[in-house]
Amino acid sequence: MNRINLPFLLVLLLPVIGSAQKFDGLALTPPMGWNSWNTFATDIDEQLVREVADAFVELGYKDAGYTYIVLDDGWMAKERDENGNLVPDPDKFPGGMKALADYVHERGLKFGLYNCAGNKTCAGYPGSRGHEYQDAQLYAEWEVDYLKYDWCNTENLDAKGAYQTMRDAIYAAGRPMVFSICEWGQHDPWKWGSEMGHLWRTSGDIINCWDCEIGHGSWSSWGIWKIIRMREDIRQYTGPGHWNDFDMMEVGNGMTAGEDRVHFAMWAMLASPLIMGNDVRINDKETIKTLTNKDVIAVNQDSLGIMGFKFSDEGNIEIWAKPLADGDWAVAFINMGRTSAKIEFDWSKHKIEDAMHNRWVDPDKDQYKITDLFNHVDFGTTENNLNASIAPHDILMTRLEQIKK
Ligand code: GAL
Repeated sequence: MNRINLPFLLVLLLPVIGSAQKFDGLALTPPMGWNSWNTFATDIDEQLVREVADAFVELGYKDAGYTYIVLDDGWMAKERDENGNLVPDPDKFPGGMKALADYVHERGLKFGLYNCAGNKTCAGYPGSRGHEYQDAQLYAEWEVDYLKYDWCNTENLDAKGAYQTMRDAIYAAGRPMVFSICEWGQHDPWKWGSEMGHLWRTSGDIINCWDCEIGHGSWSSWGIWKIIRMREDIRQYTGPGHWNDFDMMEVGNGMTAGEDRVHFAMWAMLASPLIMGNDVRINDKETIKTLTNKDVIAVNQDSLGIMGFKFSDEGNIEIWAKPLADGDWAVAFINMGRTSAKIEFDWSKHKIEDAMHNRWVDPDKDQYKITDLFNHVDFGTTENNLNASIAPHDILMTRLEQIKK
């Protein structure tokens, strides 16, 4: 009779059990890329991915820092094969995932896929429950760089445990992958997510509106400001390698140009991952200008990784602040109203304080040079009042650079 040699088995498994962890150093600044869901839902194929990769290069997205191209739900066939392996839908992806990943990698970009902790994905494709190690191995063979992992059909699963299993499976497969936790903020993932992955969704699905809630029976989709308000108080959990994810962006998906600027700027202020959700193949100058604004992106990608906070309201204008490296700050003035608004901001009367990170803008002690990050004009220094007019649902976003005294 064959007897299991327990000590030998333990020695074999030790590297896996003993050192399971997430891959560190992968998302020291918020991940930037594109995801198929917001625009295409399950209507995706390999041609789309190739065209998106080409658009990244040709329309300036790659230069601006966008790297990951992520296929969301709908890439699989409805059944696993006879060995239990996931199969890319043969009609949508006839060339298979490895060839597609190669195409993306050849352009200096990275490739991501989606699956789910449950038995089935939200759109009814095979989920990873019970197949975690096998699926991670397959992704590693395909040279996947990013896995978004959803939370549908997870009856009786413990969220932290389920994400830990997939984290360990990725680690065992040996290929570094950004692990994107998507359980909609239901089990406070900000409290345990940094151990398991690199980013975690903080809410249910985003939708392309300023402040609406669209009900779907048991769940809702949320407008930009609904999501921000829901989670403005989880600042302490975000930082290099572990991010609050305010969801894939809706910039370019039908809001006004001003609202798109506010949305983009706020994702930068919140240090949220910048994952585009529009059809980036469309050469729409205004959208490209917003999404590739390097000054705003620099605020998002700042090395401190501090999430911004609401500083105050002045009439219809909401003021947000975010400490940056080298004593700099981003300060954003958002017109929440439906008519244009004037601001006359006297810096000397406002000490902006981030007690959590021990940082201040103290105009009595320090002076700052002010630049407008969307219009690229100089606004003088904090010695003078900032006078500006802001269009409805639009923004004045500034960077304060400390002038060394
Ligand atoms: C939702 C998720 C969306 C998208 C969708 C796919 O649960 O929040 O971002 O991934 O599933 O079915």
